[in-house]
Amino acid sequence: MRKLNLFLGSVLVLFMFGISSCGNKAKEMVTTENFGSFDGKEVSLFTLTNAKGDVVKLTNYGAAIVEVNVPDRNGDKANITFGYETLDGYLAGDAYFGKVVGQYANRIAKGKFTLDEVEYTLALNNFPNSLHGGPAGWHSRVWTAEVLKGTDFPAVKFTYNKPDMEEGYPGNVVAEVVYNWTDDNELIMDYKVTTDRRSVINITNHAYFNLHGSGNGDILDHEVLIRASAFTPVDPTLIPTGELRPVEGTPFDFRTPHLIGERIGEEYDQLILGRGYDHNFVLDNVEEVDAEVYDPSTGRVLQVITDQPGVQLYTGNFLDGTQTGRGGKVYQYRSGLCLETQHFPDSPNQASFPSVILTPEEPFLSSTTYKFGVR
Ligand code: GLA
Repeated sequence: MRKLNLFLGSVLVLFMFGISSCGNKAKEMVTTENFGSFDGKEVSLFTLTNAKGDVVKLTNYGAAIVEVNVPDRNGDKANITFGYETLDGYLAGDAYFGKVVGQYANRIAKGKFTLDEVEYTLALNNFPNSLHGGPAGWHSRVWTAEVLKGTDFPAVKFTYNKPDMEEGYPGNVVAEVVYNWTDDNELIMDYKVTTDRRSVINITNHAYFNLHGSGNGDILDHEVLIRASAFTPVDPTLIPTGELRPVEGTPFDFRTPHLIGERIGEEYDQLILGRGYDHNFVLDNVEEVDAEVYDPSTGRVLQVITDQPGVQLYTGNFLDGTQTGRGGKVYQYRSGLCLETQHFPDSPNQASFPSVILTPEEPFLSSTTYKFGVR
């Protein structure tokens, strides 16, 4: 009997130890601090540390990436993405730093689309168009946060419950994004969006990167590769004309690596209209890596892997030094670039583009990875 008690006792101790060490593991990987409050909801700053000791910071305001601290080829770490020091910075900021953008990322012409013979009208926050889900889109909402337990890597899940017709979009929509920060310095973003009524969906992350370290010079010396044989030219309001233009022989051919600054100043119609690169590339989706950015001076590499059909290359053409970010860094003209994985802009109005219709029967599932390394 005594033996049995001892045995049961040890099983119990082992079991309890197992539970607590499991819990501790998750706690060590993600720490949570208060970042203020907005709209009566608590906003937190999450610090995710992987086995390498490399750190990503996130906030549930806009489900945003706040920092990505990764080494250069000498092992010196720097934050290479744009973010603000405080929640007030985020509330005042207008350039979507690191945010999850929805319900429709990018532009919808004249803020109107028709679905099932009903016309929907959106706010025109980028006259004459609607941009990035409208002025109070998902980037400006406090998402519910959950630090995931029992995962192999630090992981945080953000959820936003969007009421029917908020910002003009039909459907009670539930949007989830899980950020996984792996030991190979991959930031894997898994999206799931459901609705109770037919609607449209286009979701992206709007992180800006500067591989020198954010706030340190411009990105004209970054080398970019995009596996896209065509892009979608735009009209003067940055709405696609419907044409899929082959990149061959244009400054949009990044199928072999080119420095951003090499051709950005060319007198090419689309570079003039976009004030630089601010265009959707039609991804070939044939190799694992869809796009890559390399900084020859630090050796840092960013790889983008996605299941989405497009990616917006935006070269920070509207940055003007009026935004001050973490560590007092000032974000100047073209000091950051975005690779926003997405469906094509204005798809609800362009029947030839891949469909962006979200139905109650089929959740929208998607995954994009930013992988950081050196060369
Ligand atoms: C997107 C757009 C740009 C600009 C930025 C935010 O990438 O395509 O034109 O509006 O967002 O400043």
